[in-house]
Amino acid sequence: MEIDIGISKEDRAKIAGGLSKLLADSYTLYLTTHNFHWNVTGPMFNTLHLMFEGQYNELALAVDLIAERIRALGFPAPGSYKQFQKLTSIAEPEGVPSAEEMISLLVKGQEAVAKTARGVVKIADKASDEPTLDLLTQRMQLHEKNAWMLRSLLEK
Ligand SMILES: [Fe+2]
Repeated sequence: MEIDIGISKEDRAKIAGGLSKLLADSYTLYLTTHNFHWNVTGPMFNTLHLMFEGQYNELALAVDLIAERIRALGFPAPGSYKQFQKLTSIAEPEGVPSAEEMISLLVKGQEAVAKTARGVVKIADKASDEPTLDLLTQRMQLHEKNAWMLRSLLEK
């Protein structure tokens, strides 16, 4: 059955395309954050192990909301490593970085997701897609907050 929600198919396709990039970035950041939760070492172990856990748990919930918005707009949600690798703007880490490197990689990752979300705002706004705008606002707020918290750990 045709979708009739007041957003043209063309606009829905553009928004779903932007959200697919956001999904890929969020999933990549989820995996990297979980990886660092497992592999972090050093005097900040406890703080970082727990902080990363909070962040990857939140991301695991967020990817579901993003994917389901893509579905509600009428398009398939990407869900494979191959597709995510093609769509993401975040590079995967090499080997096991030091705790400090992990933090700075995660700052960059959090910032990258915020930038990708911000890139979709214009398209969604033009199409009066308030539910997507609401989701994007929440994602930007969260990633900018996480970036600040992680960045604060690096200050001497
Ligand atoms: Fe764990």
